[in-house]
Amino acid sequence: MDADRTHPDGVAFVEGAYVPIAEARIPILDRGFVRSDATYDVAHVWRGRFFRLDDHLGRFEANVEALRMTLPHSCAEIVEILMGCVRRSGLRDAYVQMTCTRGLPNPGSRDPRLSVNRFYAFAVPFIWIAPEESRRRGVKLLISARERIPPATLDPRIKNFQWLDMTMAMYEAYELGAELPVLIDRDGNLTEGPGFNVFVLQGGRLATPASGVFEGMTRRTVFELCAETNVECEARDVPAGDLAGADEVFLSSTAGGIIGVSAVNGGTLGDGAPGPLTTRLHDLYWSKKEAGWLGTPVDYGA
Ligand SMILES: Cc1ncc(COP(=O)(O)O)c(C=O)c1O
Repeated sequence: MDADRTHPDGVAFVEGAYVPIAEARIPILDRGFVRSDATYDVAHVWRGRFFRLDDHLGRFEANVEALRMTLPHSCAEIVEILMGCVRRSGLRDAYVQMTCTRGLPNPGSRDPRLSVNRFYAFAVPFIWIAPEESRRRGVKLLISARERIPPATLDPRIKNFQWLDMTMAMYEAYELGAELPVLIDRDGNLTEGPGFNVFVLQGGRLATPASGVFEGMTRRTVFELCAETNVECEARDVPAGDLAGADEVFLSSTAGGIIGVSAVNGGTLGDGAPGPLTTRLHDLYWSKKEAGWLGTPVDYGA
């Protein structure tokens, strides 16, 4: 690709080469596409620095191994590729995805062991799970009637492309006047939503679902911010019925950080705006990141 200019729409790394995002293609027979046979991770760059890059790579490598795949690159090479995507895009705030797919099938066979696993990556402008106006006001959340796929079927700690439960729950939320859904488990406990974990404040104690969820990097960050500021925070079962009467509810995601909730199932939550603890954690998260906390600078060259 043209080395003399940046590509603010994004840059991908496909089959060993960097390409502008609009030109990135994967082979149609890759099992990542036809079977959702893949794992991925999403890191982000904020003000020119990756946030928790090593933690994202560690999680990604563990998930690749859990799916019995082998990365075609070392960890150091992946860092270089991710940096290469961001550098070529020129983006200071970016959403950066790394993906390992099972790869192409052996002709005439369905045996996944015969596929050679593939690595893809891309950097695009930072993505938010909710627009600015909703983030400021607090997102309107729907407790979906839909169950999240059970952990015994698919371990949600392995980040995966099985998103149809969440995509259909998004339609349910839109149809009922909400902006985002949170899905439940078979016992009526909260799980997670499309791209985020959920936290609930009741009686001064913060809780987030312990199981049936992806253990988000932002969720981990919230635990750390709570420990630093002496806020009690635990992972446990959270009955979905607790949400509407909670003092505060917020979402955590790489795609937006800490995002307050102002309404649940059409009913106003608290004062109908992100609550004081949510606001405090939100401000701390962004100010620490602006100051370079857990950051790895991108070398943009001259
Ligand atoms: C299903 C699901 N849960 C939770 C999260 C939040 O994880 P993180 O904080 O690492 O972005 C994501 C992120 O994409 C997700 O897809």
